[in-house]
Amino acid sequence: MAKICLCLTGKTIARNLEVLEKYRKYLDMVELRVDYLDPDEKFLIRRFPEMAGLPVILTIRRLMDGGNFAGGEGSRISLLSKGLAFAEADRRHNFAYVDLEDDLNVPSLEEAARTFGTRIIRSYHNMQGVGDDIEGRLRSMFHVGDEIAKVAVMPQTFDDVHRVYQAARKTAGMEKILLCMGHLGTNTSILAEYLDSYLSYTAAIDEEDFPGGTAGQLSPRDLVELYRFRDVGSQTKIYGVLGYPLKITSSPEFFNTVFSFEKIDAVYVPFPSDSVESFMKFAREINLSGASVTVPYKEKVLPYLGHKTAEVESLGACNTLIADSQGWSGINTDTRGFSDSLLQFIGARDFRKKRITIVGAGGAAKAVAAEVFRLKGKALVLNRTLIRARELAAPYRFAWGGLDGLGVELMNGFNDIIIQTTSVGMAPDLEGDPLDLYSFKGTEVVMDLIYKPERTRFLTRAAAAGCRILNGHDMLMRQAKYQYSCFFGKEYPSKLVSRE
Ligand code: ATR
Repeated sequence: MAKICLCLTGKTIARNLEVLEKYRKYLDMVELRVDYLDPDEKFLIRRFPEMAGLPVILTIRRLMDGGNFAGGEGSRISLLSKGLAFAEADRRHNFAYVDLEDDLNVPSLEEAARTFGTRIIRSYHNMQGVGDDIEGRLRSMFHVGDEIAKVAVMPQTFDDVHRVYQAARKTAGMEKILLCMGHLGTNTSILAEYLDSYLSYTAAIDEEDFPGGTAGQLSPRDLVELYRFRDVGSQTKIYGVLGYPLKITSSPEFFNTVFSFEKIDAVYVPFPSDSVESFMKFAREINLSGASVTVPYKEKVLPYLGHKTAEVESLGACNTLIADSQGWSGINTDTRGFSDSLLQFIGARDFRKKRITIVGAGGAAKAVAAEVFRLKGKALVLNRTLIRARELAAPYRFAWGGLDGLGVELMNGFNDIIIQTTSVGMAPDLEGDPLDLYSFKGTEVVMDLIYKPERTRFLTRAAAAGCRILNGHDMLMRQAKYQYSCFFGKEYPSKLVSRE
């Protein structure tokens, strides 16, 4: 089972111990990053393993490898020697591991480590990419039998991530540490066991004075509680979300919670990918069971679908992939998620007699327009780019216009309900308001598909005028529940609904 290791990058030994204590129940081991310690503290490292009370890696990372040690090699080697000196018979008082870079060749250090049972982690870091031959590197890095080879790389593309998984498959059974750093690589921390990695590194990302964690690192708590790390084994089914840049997503929390609740042997992982093609190849490689698809790929996944529902076909947008024997089936759950949410909010069964303005004409607006039409509503589509408004409105015989004075005038005949579908006003652009020319009367029902922030500027204005308002959170939850049913062929558990 892959171990969980916390990188301790505090300035003092005492602070490192304090943070270790906070996370201890999640940890198998820690890494003391001497390169972050204050100068005086560096003399105290020798006693750290005894004080920590669990296995410790001794690491002094250079700047060029993404660390914080700016001194010369001489002083680094002398510090490493201090950490390994005066070894005690009780091995728990010695460092359990020492991280020595592949290009560091100091036989006396290695000898000291071996004599006292400190295992050597032979490491290679690449902060610029993944290198040419990951498998070859892993194999050639073993210097002496019981060393653990570590390759930590910074993928620039999703293809790079895929290559790391391929290297993992080819070196299955070899004791190694393998990970991708950065936002693209978070999935390698979650799936360390799948990659057959000896351990997964975590960072104290919640502690403001603990620097050094690269973007995308997880806290031990998130790894265990959110990503179910201790439950992921060789039989665990992998699900995930495809999107880009995918900086904010609540889907992992939603799915991993229900997997735990229902005791389903599955894990749900974020896969930010710069290319649909790379992702689809990768998905086959890891035998992905299903995926949610979000911005900007809902349309781009269509060519990869072996089977699609009539709705996906007519909308031209898919947000759910399910692996089947022939490839991928594509489903759209945004549509029902949207209409269920809004209909419940207005207490109606359909949109008959409702005159509705849809703001935007992108992928999300497509799902909204299709449902408004299916449920007998009449609508006006307003969009910044006029031609897209016309293209969306035409098949449904809806009215259309621009986000300008003329368009806003047309709204007088379509203002029972106003639905905002663009990304304008979404965090971090909190000032945006796509309909700032329109003055709310107070009688409109106003929905914004954005859920972060909870109240966009647009919704805040509507509420101030007395309108009833609804954000996109309920829709998101509903579409995810439909997705769950598609993945597992059963209803989302009602007991979990009552806990929400
Ligand atoms: P999604 O799948 O999230 O709907 P999309 O297909 O890229 O994403 O659509 C984005 C929508 O937001 C479009 O309606 C877009 O208007 P254009 O068709 O004119 O591009 C709208 N949008 C994005 N930025 C906007 C802005 N600053 N002002 C007004 N509308 C904007």
